[in-house]
Amino acid sequence: MIVNRKEEHLRICLERDVTGRYNYWDDLRFIHQSVPGFDMEDIDIAIDVFGKRLKAPFIISGMTGGCESGKAVNENLAVAAEELGIGMGVGSQRAALEKPELVDSYSVILDYEIPLVYANIGAPQLIPQGGGHKPIDIEAGKQAMEMVGADLLAIHLNYLQEIAQPEGDLKARGVIEAITELSSELPILAKETGAGMSRKTAIRLKDAGVRGIDVGGAGGTSFSAVEVYRAMEAGDVLRERLGRTFWNWGIPTPVSVRLARVGLQIIATGGLRNGLDLARAIAVGADAGGFACQLLSPAMESPEAVVKEIELILEELKVVMFLTGARNINELRNMRLIEAGRIKDWGIRK
Ligand SMILES: Cc1cc2nc3c(=O)[nH]c(=O)nc-3n(C[C@H](O)[C@H](O)[C@H](O)COP(=O)(O)O)c2cc1C
Repeated sequence: MIVNRKEEHLRICLERDVTGRYNYWDDLRFIHQSVPGFDMEDIDIAIDVFGKRLKAPFIISGMTGGCESGKAVNENLAVAAEELGIGMGVGSQRAALEKPELVDSYSVILDYEIPLVYANIGAPQLIPQGGGHKPIDIEAGKQAMEMVGADLLAIHLNYLQEIAQPEGDLKARGVIEAITELSSELPILAKETGAGMSRKTAIRLKDAGVRGIDVGGAGGTSFSAVEVYRAMEAGDVLRERLGRTFWNWGIPTPVSVRLARVGLQIIATGGLRNGLDLARAIAVGADAGGFACQLLSPAMESPEAVVKEIELILEELKVVMFLTGARNINELRNMRLIEAGRIKDWGIRK
């Protein structure tokens, strides 16, 4: 079942429109500077994040594993992460913790020298959900990290998706205590998957001891949307309805980056399509930007296709920096932006 679901997620994200209906990144505008004051070749986009040096503020977001095409996707992404000196995550590893035959679809990335890697486990799996699954404890968390040579263990918060999928885990009591327990021994990255994080959530996670936050905001890939297509294929009227109603639910990624600034390092994932969006993410206060869906089609094709797409994004980032007079990522961070459109409705300023 899980294996099928992973294949279905890849297929639906490749073939269907699963994006939020409004792109909030387009509401942020840079102020053009006609005289940069330095040469384009002087621009430095390297960063330090979670104690690691990356050649660019770019994280390939965790997407897959646990199925045949997932292995190829993870390997193609890993080749690119090594070559470009950027970070990468894998998709949820619960399947491989339970079925050893699935391990290599994740551990395939061990063959590559990637400067920052995160493993991935779902928050609902940290507590008993019934169905015979053992909750993931510190030992299982370590195992997930070793499987991919991880620097961090991402715990993904995906209750919106759990609601919209037929096999969803809806027990949530005790999750923050479980995250606190894991954080006492393991470096945890708390990661939303499309609904964004509020300040209240960010503070709770900080108090729980997590090392960083991936805000995973609304406006990009919507798992409610993904589940609409799965529900339609399965004739599940309730899930289809829930998926449609909550398609655009959540805190937009740029708003969430600002809300989540509670003194932890922040990754902005959700709806980033190009280097202009990446620049906007840094300018609103993220340490790095995460890309998922934009890389899926090249990742199905070849490692070269992934490298090419990311190089284009990084070139766009440098162009923004040149045209705004930001010589390095520090100068880009917290740069003044003009805010327009719906983002203003949230009333969140610096
Ligand atoms: C096919 C697919 C599978 C995904 N699976 C996972 C997963 O297993 N665990 C997770 O934390 N996030 C998962 N995500 C969410 C991404 O990491 C990311 O947060 C989300 O897609 C938003 O980024 P985007 O708008 O650039 O696609 C998945 C995304 C896609 C497209």
